[in-house]
Amino acid sequence: MSGERSLAYVAVPRRFTSWVCVLAISSAVVVATAAENRRGMVSSVHPTATEAGLNVLKTGGNAVDAAVAVGLTLGVVDTPNSGIGGGCFMLIRLANGKVVAIDGREMATAAATRDMFVREGKADTDLSQTGALASGVPGALAAFDYAVRQYGKKQLSELILPAAEIAEHGFVLNASYANRLNSVADDMKQFEASRAVFFRDGETLKAGDVLKQPDLAVTYRSIAGQGSDWFYRGPFARATEQWMRANGGLMTAADFANYQVMLREPVTTTYRGYKIVSFAPPSSGGVHLVQMLNILEKFDLKSLDEATRLHVIAEAMKLAFADRAHWLGDPDFAKVPRGLVSKKYAASLAKKINLPRATEVPSHGTPSKWERDVFRKGRIAASLSPQWGEGLRVKDSLPDSTGIAMPIPSLNPSPRAALKTHALQTLRAGRGPQELAPAFGVRASSAPLSFRQEFTQIEKHTTHWSVADAEGNWVAVTATINTSFGSKVVIPGTGVVMNNEMDDFSIQPGVPNAFGLIGADANAVEPGKRPLSSMTPTIVLKNGKPIIALGAAGGPKIITSVLMELIYMLDLGMSAGEAIAAPRLHHQWSPGELQVERALPLHLRTALQQRGHEVTELNSMAVSHIVARSPDGRSLVGAADPRAGGNAAGW
Ligand code: DON
Repeated sequence: MSGERSLAYVAVPRRFTSWVCVLAISSAVVVATAAENRRGMVSSVHPTATEAGLNVLKTGGNAVDAAVAVGLTLGVVDTPNSGIGGGCFMLIRLANGKVVAIDGREMATAAATRDMFVREGKADTDLSQTGALASGVPGALAAFDYAVRQYGKKQLSELILPAAEIAEHGFVLNASYANRLNSVADDMKQFEASRAVFFRDGETLKAGDVLKQPDLAVTYRSIAGQGSDWFYRGPFARATEQWMRANGGLMTAADFANYQVMLREPVTTTYRGYKIVSFAPPSSGGVHLVQMLNILEKFDLKSLDEATRLHVIAEAMKLAFADRAHWLGDPDFAKVPRGLVSKKYAASLAKKINLPRATEVPSHGTPSKWERDVFRKGRIAASLSPQWGEGLRVKDSLPDSTGIAMPIPSLNPSPRAALKTHALQTLRAGRGPQELAPAFGVRASSAPLSFRQEFTQIEKHTTHWSVADAEGNWVAVTATINTSFGSKVVIPGTGVVMNNEMDDFSIQPGVPNAFGLIGADANAVEPGKRPLSSMTPTIVLKNGKPIIALGAAGGPKIITSVLMELIYMLDLGMSAGEAIAAPRLHHQWSPGELQVERALPLHLRTALQQRGHEVTELNSMAVSHIVARSPDGRSLVGAADPRAGGNAAGW
């Protein structure tokens, strides 16, 4: 293969309402789907989830309802990445102009301690990543429930029941899911209930096998019937406490009852005339996205040559991540300076960037008034359900490891029938949902096998989806159980995979987590605290109107991917489909290397090395999903990341 790769973006008309953006990378062609419609748009990592969201839009739901349906469906068909055993951040821009940032991040248990992962003076990341101590109290379901109650048009039960059907009838595993499962087999097989769901005859399920999750179906139906109290104040909480107690965990039913959805004040800035709205701490995402944009606004990125532009972007990343390691944490516990997002501070950082040469960044910066001007504590979201806050009133019939007996509400005949038909068609066709997607392809004729495999077998955790509706509601949600299959623990009888978000805390100062991130006191473990996140659900407005909703999966690469996509769209004028497919860079200060996607042309990599960057190559980084307004403002476009198997669809 020749050393040099060239990039070309081509818009290939497919039908009236959709097109395919093609990124040609010398010997390979990566295709990102984009869809265009007027009444609503959903983009997610899984076609079944996209379809669930679209069905909700088509049947009178708004973007908030659709976003929740997508999330609940992903919890069934994309279990490695997210689910109700994990957490999420939802950023909503309502048609009336109001912006709501709903924090459903996991919380440390009441019994958590700063040194809970330290053994004989050393941090033990096995404990923070696998098993009973690894989980925070899940918040995704509480956030979904809150969002639908406050801003949706449908009931949570209507949104969760179709997903219960899929859990019950099953779906065919594709190669990517089976590989993910296989890669965690050793850790997962320690846990009996996890083996019961994901193993057959002592081995993990394979591509082509049907994954049925009857316990998860019962869990979903119980929530449909009894509300999220069933989870937070009833049988699920007690089943979890029972399992945790037997397995050395700390989580109790009281931790669930005390879980709070928080409302955060979004982080905002202006960037070349656009308004950027992103998520506040305990995510570091919005803070550093805004910080980097503020720095980069000081450079005329469009007119810089490509190598210099990438160098400047990498330098901004480095500066921001040095600050992340020191300052960031849950603002309900730590003082996170608001100055990090000020234009003045950004201007002082921009001056440190040297165009011909990479600068050494020995440590974090210090924004002015860092002690006094800090991010506000969150506001506790109003009560979630009639029972919320009124004690344990839910009737229990749990637990026993054979399953949970609960009244099972039914769907209205029509959506139920439609879903069943879909599930059966999928099964009969012998295809997993991802195989149904037209979203991703590498042209067989032009791509060597190794390249195709690298692109199709990438392992990404976490997930982002974006939704917009005809009324003008826009939603960006990023959800996670952290690394693949979270803590690997399924709570017996529930089908729920628990997160390993405790690893996002700084479990000992300077000890890197699963993503190589280090942290300080601000992100130390404390009871009731939320671990620092990189999730970056973001909405961009122009002239007061939303034009882009985006976000990504990929640990710290989430923040840098969202940055790159925004630069591609806002500075370089690319479409959403082009921006999502274009090569990405990532620098997180520590380790001191600049990671670039393999698709980045060699001459640019060399130019970056010549400027003093230690460049390392990755096949791909992060997975993003975008919904945007078309340039003429008349329709909605959606783009799904060609690095994974999702799709965008509208109507
Ligand atoms: O909240 C966070 O930042 C992480 N738990 C996200 C994990 C993630 O994106 C994993 N992807 N590779």
